[in-house]
Amino acid sequence: MQNTKQKRNKIRPLAWPLALTIAALGAAVLVSTAPMAQDAAAPAEAPAAEAPAAPPVDPLVQKGEYLARAGNCISCHTRPGGEPFAGGLAFSLPAPYTFLGQIHSTNITPDAETGIGTWTEEQFIRAMHEGVGADGSRLLPAFPYTAFTLTTTEDVKAIYAYLKTVAPVKYTAPSNGIAFAMRWPMMFWNALFFKEGRYQPDAKQSDEWNRGAYLVEGLGHCSACHTPRNLLLAERSDKKFSGGTQPDLVAEGKVRTWSAANLTSAPVGLGGWSVDQISKYLKLGHSTKAGIFGPMNEVIVNSLQHLTNEDAKAMAVYIKSLPPIDDVPKQTLTEEQKTAGEALYKKHCDECHIASGRGAFMKAPPVAGSAIVQAAHPASLINVILYGAKVGKGGPAPFGAWEDMPSFATKMNDAEIATLANFLRSNWDNKGGPVTAADVAKQR
Ligand code: HEC
Ligand code: HEC
Ligand code: HEC
Repeated sequence: MQNTKQKRNKIRPLAWPLALTIAALGAAVLVSTAPMAQDAAAPAEAPAAEAPAAPPVDPLVQKGEYLARAGNCISCHTRPGGEPFAGGLAFSLPAPYTFLGQIHSTNITPDAETGIGTWTEEQFIRAMHEGVGADGSRLLPAFPYTAFTLTTTEDVKAIYAYLKTVAPVKYTAPSNGIAFAMRWPMMFWNALFFKEGRYQPDAKQSDEWNRGAYLVEGLGHCSACHTPRNLLLAERSDKKFSGGTQPDLVAEGKVRTWSAANLTSAPVGLGGWSVDQISKYLKLGHSTKAGIFGPMNEVIVNSLQHLTNEDAKAMAVYIKSLPPIDDVPKQTLTEEQKTAGEALYKKHCDECHIASGRGAFMKAPPVAGSAIVQAAHPASLINVILYGAKVGKGGPAPFGAWEDMPSFATKMNDAEIATLANFLRSNWDNKGGPVTAADVAKQR
């Protein structure tokens, strides 16, 4: 993916900007993990009377730290093994654009030379709200300014105040693929797909709903992963939150695709989840419906677990209200396909997920009605079977959290996994399009 075979060609002014526009566009994609140490300092809750010795914490900085967590800045702005916020994490575009090369997150520590130490508050606000860098160049939407634009100026100022207090680090990220050197084509992409503006509360809804919408749509940038993208990699507004895919750079040159679940209230999405089950999942990393693994690990470990119960609940209330989008096909298996799939399920899965597919207390969450099983794109279902399901390092491990699910990569071949996946996607009341052995091979 790294080598872009393009040549600079000054005489072809059209082809080049076009390629760039296509390239630059969505980039919005996803990331690999950046396991971070959690430091103390939870928001608010002033410790009563005790411990007057601790240095006073500026409430603005404290608020900014909380909001920076809600925006998960640290996951994207920390490379594996690197200092927090110093940048350098590589992002790959999804196929067919991988050849355009990688994008790297930048250093947002207050180092004057290599970070944002000399940025004024106005410049920072402009980056968050308009996707424009300090030097006036357009930023790539791998930085989710398309969502952050909804954040109030007051909240952005708090994040700025907080970032000024993190340890400055001298570090410059590797340069991006050559296709991303020119920024002006982003003007066209922005004109087509970017709507600048702050969140407008909906007066017909409760304060709680509005708070949830503000966090989910804005700093939480959930739609960056959970919405399918068009050919120019912009989120499709007609399919918002119905599930997307993102490439995860697992090793140099190796991208593994994940599919994010449908978060709408369709039966193939979170239709069967209560507000309580959603908010527990977000805050604790598990509920009776599911546990975390894959790309949600970093979202919950670095971001959502640090939110207050009230904010996690508000997000759940908003998510629960998302109108259903149910666009996955139902497949009908032949008797042989069904028998073969059922046999594999009995042999490998039944012990924990049981015959009814409803899972079992302390053993495993349900696969009947699961948003992962029924996702439009089967990547995450295949990944769970191939690699198992594990909570990431630093994840919450409250009482009752799921154990890890083992990997089956060596226990079944691609055709068997496809047969099993099709059984899961059509048995009980589940729905989901066909999975082929070739789909499984791609995830190996
Ligand atoms: C999904 C990944 C992702 C998340 C989350 C993210 N960023 Fe970024 N950010 C990037 C990437 C990639 C770039 C580089 C964009 C470019 O080169 O145009 C960037 C660039 C920036 C820039 C411009 C810096 C410069 O030197 O031009 C700022 C400021 C910034 N991010 C702040 C933040 C803050 C604050 C948060 C959290 C509220 C955040 N980012 C969350 C990926 C992310
Ligand atoms: C980095 C991309 C990414 C972001 C950002 C993201 N998600 Fe996810 N999400 C995924 C993927 C991929 C899956 C399916 C695999 C997994 O669980 O990791 C998923 C799964 C889920 C599930 C279903 C879990 C299950 O097992 O059924 C819920 C609920 C969810 N995400 C909520 C959210 C919310 C709320 C946000 C915003 C705060 C969010 N996600 C942000 C990628 C993302
Ligand atoms: C030893 C018990 C065990 C076995 C055997 C097992 N699983 Fe799991 N499975 C789990 C646990 C526990 C989780 C939740 C783990 C987590 O998210 O941290 C899980 C999660 C899942 C999920 C994600 C559900 C969701 O909506 O988030 C799917 C899909 C799944 N398993 C499918 C299978 C299939 C298919 C098999 C057989 C090949 C299988 N499992 C075998 C224990 C098991």
